[in-house]
Amino acid sequence: MKTVYLDNAATTPVDPRVKEAMLPWLTDNFGNPSSVHKTGRAAKVMLEDTRDLFAEFAGAKPSEIYFTSGGTEANNFAIKGCAFNFLGKKNHIITTSIEHSAVLDTVEYLKTRFGFKITILKTNKSGEINYDELNNAISEETFLVSVMHSNNELGIINDVRNAVVETGGKNIAVHSDMVQSLGKVKINLHDTGVNFASFSSHKIYGPKGAGALYIKKDSPVDKYIHGGKQERDRRGGTENTASIAGFKKAIEILSAEMESDIKKYSEMKEKLVSELKNGFGNKIIFNSYTDERSLPNIMNISFDRNSVKIDTDTLLIKLDMNNIAVSSGSACTSGSVKPSHVLKAIGYDDNTAGSSLRISFGRFNEENDIYEFVKVLKEIIS
Ligand SMILES: Cc1ncc(COP(=O)(O)O)c(C=O)c1O
Repeated sequence: MKTVYLDNAATTPVDPRVKEAMLPWLTDNFGNPSSVHKTGRAAKVMLEDTRDLFAEFAGAKPSEIYFTSGGTEANNFAIKGCAFNFLGKKNHIITTSIEHSAVLDTVEYLKTRFGFKITILKTNKSGEINYDELNNAISEETFLVSVMHSNNELGIINDVRNAVVETGGKNIAVHSDMVQSLGKVKINLHDTGVNFASFSSHKIYGPKGAGALYIKKDSPVDKYIHGGKQERDRRGGTENTASIAGFKKAIEILSAEMESDIKKYSEMKEKLVSELKNGFGNKIIFNSYTDERSLPNIMNISFDRNSVKIDTDTLLIKLDMNNIAVSSGSACTSGSVKPSHVLKAIGYDDNTAGSSLRISFGRFNEENDIYEFVKVLKEIIS
């Protein structure tokens, strides 16, 4: 029986066109982009074409794009790279309570291992950042603000240009995790004004193992991986050419189809909101906005625990037994029984946070997937 896959924020299936584009880079075109011979040069050309394409798509210069193994590495590169650049000079980083663990664990490590001071800003109940609070948190010691563009559990979109405005003229770098935003909202990096932004290929129907960090010209950052001189001597290591070729195709497809993807996500979201309201009435709680303030492809719900006595783990198992794949939050935390740190951060108690589901649509979903999901959910709840 076909699986109804509604967990596209965890990872997307590889688009068949992406797979085709990758195959030559796993067979004949196996060259190392650092080699001077023809086989190597072909890989180098593909790599630089990808850089040009991605830069154009995201509103940056090719020289500002650095390939990484994905979003986690891009977040580590930006935050640790910037922190090491300021080591012994300034010591304060500001971030938010709803960041992905690739940001929160990284700043925690910098705090415990190197003594950096970290301020973690709370958001409102829908995951929105209060930029006045950000302004109040800034001190002489602040050198980095890391605020995510859209949240992987709630879908909420934060206008990170406000962080750039608040930090303006104070010699503070701004990093933004844009992993979930790519392909779901239009991004122009130069317009946002951030110094660093993180991206991942496997959220846009590309393969795992590729991603990118945008580093605005002259931003303060140390070399991240030592070894070779790849990525303009900032990230050593032979590039993952097959995955980067897949990333390239995924961006080419987005350039042509992003609008129709977004239309599809929005229609599915609207349909799901209405099906859930019809099916569950006031037993259902929407954990963030369901309009354009939130990504078109992510929705997060809980059940009112007074009327529905079921926890997320049981729900997930029962949905899985019925071939429906959704998640309880970020994939990295879904293996554990702990309620989502994001829902707790926006003020939910363990009980309500412990009955949440994240539903995320993708290019390959059909309207029927929504009906099937709601039908099975009703059977389980009843
Ligand atoms: C917001 C966000 N940041 C970072 C990551 C990590 O990206 P990757 O899986 O490419 O390491 C994810 C993945 O779920 C994410 O949703």
